[in-house]
Amino acid sequence: MKKINFASDNYAGVHPEVMQAICAANKGPAVAYGGDDATEAAIQQFKHHLGNHAEAFFVFNGTGANVSALCAMTQSHEAVICAEKAHIQVDECGAPEKIAGCKLLLVPATHGKITVEGIQAQLQRMGDQHYVQARVISISQSTEYGTVYTLDELRELSAFAKTHGLYLHMDGARIANAAASLQTDLKTIIEVAGVDVLSFGGTKNGMMMGEAVIFLNPLLAKSFLYIRKQNMQLASKMRFISAQFQVLLSNDLWLNNAHHANAMAQHMAQGLRKINSIHITQPVDANAIFAIMPTTLIEKLHTRYHFHVWDERLSEVRLMTSFDTKKEEIDAFVRDAAQ
Ligand SMILES: Cc1ncc(COP(=O)(O)O)c(C=O)c1O
Repeated sequence: MKKINFASDNYAGVHPEVMQAICAANKGPAVAYGGDDATEAAIQQFKHHLGNHAEAFFVFNGTGANVSALCAMTQSHEAVICAEKAHIQVDECGAPEKIAGCKLLLVPATHGKITVEGIQAQLQRMGDQHYVQARVISISQSTEYGTVYTLDELRELSAFAKTHGLYLHMDGARIANAAASLQTDLKTIIEVAGVDVLSFGGTKNGMMMGEAVIFLNPLLAKSFLYIRKQNMQLASKMRFISAQFQVLLSNDLWLNNAHHANAMAQHMAQGLRKINSIHITQPVDANAIFAIMPTTLIEKLHTRYHFHVWDERLSEVRLMTSFDTKKEEIDAFVRDAAQ
């Protein structure tokens, strides 16, 4: 029997409209390396959503987006302040250190969110030639724990970054889920947070593959064409990434997909909260549920469902929903867990 996916939104397939767009882009030749019409149209879509000054560059994957963004934001003696469990710290195999050549300064995070107090503690010895110089704050929206920074929290981080001359990078692998959760548009999130560079996720929101690096601070974009190429993130047949973004952003597909994934997470959380032996550990703001459950239950559920054990010590699992999660799949999971 095929297992049902609650492991990751990366397990999900491609949204049918996105697949159609890929097929439609497959009509004969087109200019390579981003000189094609679909790429220009997708760049314009990003301007529509994020403001005319937004400069979009398409890349293959999220790690490539984050690392390339950090390459553009730091020099070799500079550091990035981020959450101790940020994707750039725990899930990119040291690529920021190897490729961007920058040190990561880690901040403890409650429910995946960092605070001004935490950042302040890492902001040391500025101007001291012996000490690495903090240059960037990197936050994930939504976070690795499925939580979402509120607009007030973003405002506070932004004010702090500006006061201390730090850039703000947002890992928006799931920014669509954050926008759906906050019931606001993408531009509001970016403006309130004072984002300089955004890694914009497509893969987890219904695309086959592809992410974008968006510069809201045009000075930082100056060398990005070359950085992207050096980082091996320049797609020759770029139109097939661009066409996916075009369809995702040209109507509300991006938002509808995210709304659905978030709603499914709420439905799952509601069901699991009724089961005494299961304890939900993080606020469910977006499309992930973290829960502690007995190991025997995890073993049994693993025979029918894909999901990750997040923290073996705590017996904590991560359940994730996506644009194609079905309500019946969740109902079956909750029923099996209850039994
Ligand atoms: C917060 C976050 N950022 C970035 C990524 C993108 O990573 P990848 O390089 O696998 O596309 C992920 C993927 O799981 C993620 O969860």
